[in-house]
Amino acid sequence: MRLLNASGCLDALTAPDVAAGLDTFVTKTVTPLPRGGNDPVRIAETEVGMLNAIGLANPGIDAFLTHVLPRLPRPVWVSVGGFSVRDYTEICERLEGEDVAAIELNLSCPNVDEAPSGGGEVVAAARAATTKPLYAKLAPTADVAENAQAAEAAGAGGLSLVNTVKGLALDERTLRPVLARGAGGLSGPALRPLALAAVHACHQATRVPIVGMGGVSRGRDALELLAAGASDVALGTVLFSDPGAPARIRAELEAELAAHGFADPDNIVGAAHEAEASTLDLESRVGRKKGLHTRANVAG
Ligand SMILES: Cc1cc2nc3c(=O)[nH]c(=O)nc-3n(C[C@H](O)[C@H](O)[C@H](O)COP(=O)(O)O)c2cc1C
Repeated sequence: MRLLNASGCLDALTAPDVAAGLDTFVTKTVTPLPRGGNDPVRIAETEVGMLNAIGLANPGIDAFLTHVLPRLPRPVWVSVGGFSVRDYTEICERLEGEDVAAIELNLSCPNVDEAPSGGGEVVAAARAATTKPLYAKLAPTADVAENAQAAEAAGAGGLSLVNTVKGLALDERTLRPVLARGAGGLSGPALRPLALAAVHACHQATRVPIVGMGGVSRGRDALELLAAGASDVALGTVLFSDPGAPARIRAELEAELAAHGFADPDNIVGAAHEAEASTLDLESRVGRKKGLHTRANVAG
């Protein structure tokens, strides 16, 4: 199991110590042209999580390649976004010769009006444009398993689950939306059961590895995403309030695993799918799956 950050939730250049606590750094989504993003207010807190409407603010691929990418820690995944299939393929092509371990295709940003439709089409075009591993990042919609299957069929080697979902906060006094844009992407604790359900459904529906994220703030949350079928876990909103989260969550996860009788987090991947799991025989049955978390060699 690797611990990553969720795209857009950590700036490795201003917080290198936090990034050093992760196994892989994931960039904020990069688009072909620079974007200032949406007008402020772009962040709001709710009792159950955070709303953001950043709107893919980023320096654009030219400045990213020149000024940002060379200074980022390795291994690094680059999150790629756009408003047309060509936007995605252009960035994939530009990254081809770079020291980038994987590309995460952001197919699910709730904060832009002109998002591309047809995730499968974007993945297929990106697949043709790069030799790098491709992760399709999806939102926890009702059809997430179908979207995941379409992404897998189009050549995605993995899934990043989940992106935020649209939420709205109203000002206590004026009853107007707090965010200038109106609605924003809801992240944090409220997203956790949705993320678990999406990971659970996509583990059943596909054979590719899954990076699980959405409301992880404790080792127990990471444990549950692994049990639902994620093989890696990413931290998002928690990093804004607790820069020590990577080390803390790792330690808590280790304790959770030990309490369930597991030495290795890879052994618990998919445990929630085991029929009639009992604490006594869980390890031996799940243990048989060890090594299959890449899921490339599953028969059938
Ligand atoms: C402030 C903020 C900015 C984000 N920016 C991006 C982004 O650029 N690209 C992306 O794919 N996801 C972005 N996300 C979504 C996160 O990567 C993640 O999918 C989501 O927040 C769920 O995880 P969490 O509940 O642990 O935060 C952003 C989330 C937040 C809170």
